[in-house]
Order: sequence, then structure tokens, then C-alpha cells
Amino acid sequence: MNEEAAAEIGGRIPAHPLPSSSRAPGKCILFGEHAVVHGRPELLLALDLYTQIGVRAAPATTLNADRTPLEHNPYLSRALETLWSGRPPLALTAVSRIPRAAGLGSSAAFVAAVAAVLCAADGGVERARLHQIAFEIEQGAQGVGSPGDTAAVVGGGYLTLNSTAGRPLWQVRDARHTWSVHRVPDPAWSWLIAYSGIPRDTGATVRAVGERLRQEDGPRLLEEFEQVAHEGIAAVGEEDREKVGALLNRNHGLLQQVGVSHPRLEELLAAVLPACEGGKVTGAGAGGSIVVLPKLGRELEASRRITRAGGVAYLVRPALRGVELVGPADRGTGTG
Ligand code: PMV
Repeated sequence: MNEEAAAEIGGRIPAHPLPSSSRAPGKCILFGEHAVVHGRPELLLALDLYTQIGVRAAPATTLNADRTPLEHNPYLSRALETLWSGRPPLALTAVSRIPRAAGLGSSAAFVAAVAAVLCAADGGVERARLHQIAFEIEQGAQGVGSPGDTAAVVGGGYLTLNSTAGRPLWQVRDARHTWSVHRVPDPAWSWLIAYSGIPRDTGATVRAVGERLRQEDGPRLLEEFEQVAHEGIAAVGEEDREKVGALLNRNHGLLQQVGVSHPRLEELLAAVLPACEGGKVTGAGAGGSIVVLPKLGRELEASRRITRAGGVAYLVRPALRGVELVGPADRGTGTG
């Protein structure tokens, strides 16, 4: 990573002893989910909805006073196994505005926030390294997946994976792929997300799409995902809202073809699209959320349309900074 990039995104997570706390943003995928798992391009942004974590030494490991947190939370058990093995127990607190299992990066934000505090307690960490760590923890807990979500919550702002657009930040790896992470400029748009209230399992959905892509038309579908993502990244760069809307709709058509829409998501889209340039499922799908680009000046109307259709509306802007430390855990609520 060059120095300019490091300064822009807040650079290193500095050393900080426990007690300590951090916050990490959620994320929204604009183009390329699922295809990114197969090495194709993706555009995503960090959201101004946050998870905050507080961590202090304690007689027993707890999460929000639950004494059996490791049985219920594979992300936490992986994080502690990776970064805190053989060390004294910790009491963690977590509060979040990111709905869970909604496709908005709640698990990536949790993992990155915990990892940032633990790495800070061990002398600090470069953001590129923190991304690799957070990705391995998330993928280990989920069994499958790309580093897209963890890129957004660690890097903040608008980022691409597997694309040459924008400025290179760093690379992350697993046994099969190397993914490049690039920064692209923020067009200063508001996006509207609608959560359906239908939870889903990212791992199961990714595996089902993997199966679907092994069918005869799989390679053609992947090519189309790639093409739409490249065009979408370029259209956001050109700040061409109409074109972005049309490409969101095209990307949604592809997600329908690989089976990750849902009748509730279709109802929400039908209700909101008259006030929007376009929209699509965001994240793993099969439940979860949609993202739409409201027409300028019609953001509140679009929000009301979602609410009337029974969705939970979030009018969001990008979180320009990724995960960061926010102060000692023993202040105020204990979560910074
Ligand atoms: O729904 P989420 O937030 O888990 O997003 C998943 C995005 C996928 O491309 C479907 C999987 C991945 O790991 O990239």
C-alpha cells in the first residue's frame, strides 16, 4: 500500500492496551456478489451503520454477559483462536445498528471490530494485514466466501475487488485466489437499503449458487456478471445515475437467474422502483435486503414506499473510514 492510500483510509490500527473498543461499518454490495466468490469483479461500499465492540480482561470469557459465547458465535471463537489463543479471558460487549443475516455485513463488522482491538492490544496492525486476518476468520467461520465484506469494513468508502479500476490498496489471498482491493471515488450519493426481515444463511446460499454455476450456462452467466460489474464500476466513476440504475436492474436479473431473489424482495423492489433509477438484491440474497438508487429528490418517497410495503428502510451514505479504535471500553456504555 502506498503512503497516500494509508493516510486516506486511516492507515495503521495503532497499539492500544486493554480495555479498548472499536467500531466497524456495515457494507453494501452494488455489483458482483456471488460472482466475486469465483474471482469476478465486485463494487461495494462501507455503510454508515456501525457495530461497536468493547473488550476488557475478565475472570471468564463473555459476550454481552453471555457466559457461553463461543458455543453461539463461531466468528468470536475463530477470532479468539486466531488472535488470543492461550491468553487470559475477555469480557466483550457488542452493540450494532447493522441488522443480522441481512446481507449488510454484520458478521464482517463484528469480526473486524474484534480483530482490531485484539491486534491493537498486541502492538497494532497494518490495515492490509488486518484485512487478511479478518477474511480468514470470517471465511473459517462461514466455510466459504470472498474477502469482499471484510474489505469494505476494514477499508471504508467505495472499494472494488478483482478490478483494475481505481487505486490499488492491497491484496488478500486464500488457497485458491488472490483478490486485489482498489479504492474508487465516492460519488456522494445516498443509497436506500430495504431489509425484508427474512434471515438467510450466506454459506448455504453461496454453495447453492456454486452448484447453479456448474450447469451448462454457468460460464456464460459468470461472464455476464463480470461485464455488468465492469460497466457498473465505470458508470459510478462517471457519476451517471441513470446508467447505474439500468445496470443495477441488469445485475438483479442475473441474481434472479442464479436463484437468490425471493418473493418478498420482488415485492419490495416493485414497490420502490417507481421512485428509483434501479435496484437489486444485495448480498447473498434468498432473503436479506435490496439496495436501490433513489431518484434525486425522491429519497423520502422511496423510503415511505419501502415502509408501506413492510420493509425496514435505511437511507445510507458511505462510511469513509473503515474499522477504527474509539476509546477505552470502561467509558460510558462500555462500547465507546
Ligand atoms: O449476504 P452477505 O453479506 O453475507 O454477502 C455475501 C456476498 C457473497 O458474494 C454472496 C459471498 C461473499 O463472500 O462474497
